[in-house]
Amino acid sequence: MSSINKWQRTHACGELCAADIGKEVTLCGWVHTWRNHGGVIFINLRDRSGVSQLVFSPDSPTGEAAAALRHEYVICVKGKVSPRPQTMINPKMKTGEIEINASDLELINASETPPFLVNEADADTAPSEELRLRYRYLDLRRPSLQQNIIFRHKAAMYARKYLWKNGFIEIETPILMKSTPEGARDFLVPSRINKGRFYALPQSPQTYKQLLMVSGFERYFQIARCFRDEDLRADRQPEFTQIDAELSFVNEEDIFAIFEGMLSSIFKDCLNIDAVTPFPRMTYKEAFFTYGSDKPDLRFGLPIQDVTDNFTSSQFKVFQSAIENGGKIAAVNANSCGDFTRKIIDELTSLVGKYGAKGLVWLRVTDAGLEGPSAKFLSDVEMNNIKERMSVKTGDMIFIIADKEKTCFTAMGQLRLEIAKLKNLINKDEFNFLWVTEFPMFEFSEEQNRYTSVHHPFTAPMDEDIGLLNGDECYKARSRAYDLVINGTEAGGGSIRIHDSSVQQKIFDILGISREEAQEKFGFLLHALTFGAPPHAGLAFGLDRLVMLMLGLDSIRDVIPFPKTTTGLSLMDNAPDIVSNEQLAELGIKITAGTNEIGKQ
Ligand code: AMO
Ligand code: AMP
Repeated sequence: MSSINKWQRTHACGELCAADIGKEVTLCGWVHTWRNHGGVIFINLRDRSGVSQLVFSPDSPTGEAAAALRHEYVICVKGKVSPRPQTMINPKMKTGEIEINASDLELINASETPPFLVNEADADTAPSEELRLRYRYLDLRRPSLQQNIIFRHKAAMYARKYLWKNGFIEIETPILMKSTPEGARDFLVPSRINKGRFYALPQSPQTYKQLLMVSGFERYFQIARCFRDEDLRADRQPEFTQIDAELSFVNEEDIFAIFEGMLSSIFKDCLNIDAVTPFPRMTYKEAFFTYGSDKPDLRFGLPIQDVTDNFTSSQFKVFQSAIENGGKIAAVNANSCGDFTRKIIDELTSLVGKYGAKGLVWLRVTDAGLEGPSAKFLSDVEMNNIKERMSVKTGDMIFIIADKEKTCFTAMGQLRLEIAKLKNLINKDEFNFLWVTEFPMFEFSEEQNRYTSVHHPFTAPMDEDIGLLNGDECYKARSRAYDLVINGTEAGGGSIRIHDSSVQQKIFDILGISREEAQEKFGFLLHALTFGAPPHAGLAFGLDRLVMLMLGLDSIRDVIPFPKTTTGLSLMDNAPDIVSNEQLAELGIKITAGTNEIGKQ
């Protein structure tokens, strides 16, 4: 079995088809599946391009060697492409019309028994995510995951191509830098040469890209790695990738047009989907008060209504006390949800409870009127008004929350999403693009007990609201920030920047950042802005999120080759890990919490 011209493969496993029948081919790859049918061995051989079926007959010189092969062995095979018997044709497989009658076989490398089968185990036997992450290099052999990573590569390439064509220049910015103000915690890197000092890993290249505008590059982009030490979720990783851009001499309209163009060309090139432009726009206010979110999913309706004025003289104490405390009453008509059981309603009540709502009023719409435990507290006028207001019909259900404004609408927004899931209202094949605009400049942070920037402190206020900045109402000012939302996920965000150092100073004053602190943290940027900074603006798309959404996946871990767990661990190589005492001593660092002993937390 040595006649094969080793590793000189002639074809890729996934590309053979009926047109190749009769050809002598040499294939290399991994044993994907292995079946012995009365001595005839069938192997699906896998490489990056796909699989081809190999047939080894027991009486051929390869038969015995083929019988010794196992999953994930790496082999090289020579054989003739033949038509499959009519009954064996597999229309689901690209190579389903043919098989290769193997005449020669070279075992290149055996494999230990893998901890899980690479060949797409069905749902019941699918390995746990923990096991998959521990053996990520094997997990990455799975065709579906491999396709995700290849798709990601394509999306990044098409983004590059579009940006290049549109005058953008790709520029790398430092990874070891000074802290940026994106709002999350920084990952710090101690400096050995300058003991006691730390670099921060970039939360984004924000300050550098603004400096590049001051330097006159006019159009910058970078597929940039960003690092944020924040609580992780399905769509958040501690390190992730942005398609980051900044432009000079532009306004919102230019930004929207350019990046709608970028997204539509990526969607066309990668998915052959025509995104309809221009994308719709919605103010933050409308998004929040109609959908209870700054990233509304508009693939379904269920709008929220503020019905406070319906209940101003209500005898129902829940409504009374909300109004007395300056709160709001919000309602949603859950169409055709009159059949929700008590169990479902209890689950929905505990869901809104997680978002701070103290309860959930429900009113089933029947031919006889509104029914539910709270109905007895409502007057006929109130019931008739709410029915009319919510345009209900028999079989619907009205849900109402009375609470502080923020709690009320946020909880309603979550309820809306849950109802859509329960009622299967979301068309998974649809892509809904939306720009959300006119965000507030500031929000109060309970954690820090002070106002912070909703976007970041370099975001310009809306011209109409600049006057507000000097008075007590400064917190009401709106910004020139924008987010791009796809199917209810924030896929990108950015803003028109402040290019005037006095306005920038004003914002720091409102944020309670002292002149010394501003100088110390961002002095370089403030100083740069005094040397003839052009008006500029930019935005960044989360590449991981974009790819996740395009592929209809629920977790960004499925589009990142080597992701971390939700507790920030890399199970494969055990990062973060302890380091030697010598390394610590060199850095002048002493561990005071946790431990530096192997195996202890
Ligand atoms: P922002 O903080 O909104 O803006 O981030 C831009 C986009 O990056 C993605 N993203 C994340 N993806 C995965 N994991 C995370 N932890 C994570 N955090 C953010 C989101 C988000 O929309 N410098 C500004 C942009 C600008 O103003 O130009 C910035 O970073 O998709
Ligand atoms: P209680 O008077 O607390 O027993 O509440 C009566 C009903 O009103 C229950 O069905 C609660 O779920 C509901 N409820 C209580 N507080 C609120 C609230 N803030 N908003 C909406 N419903 C509420």
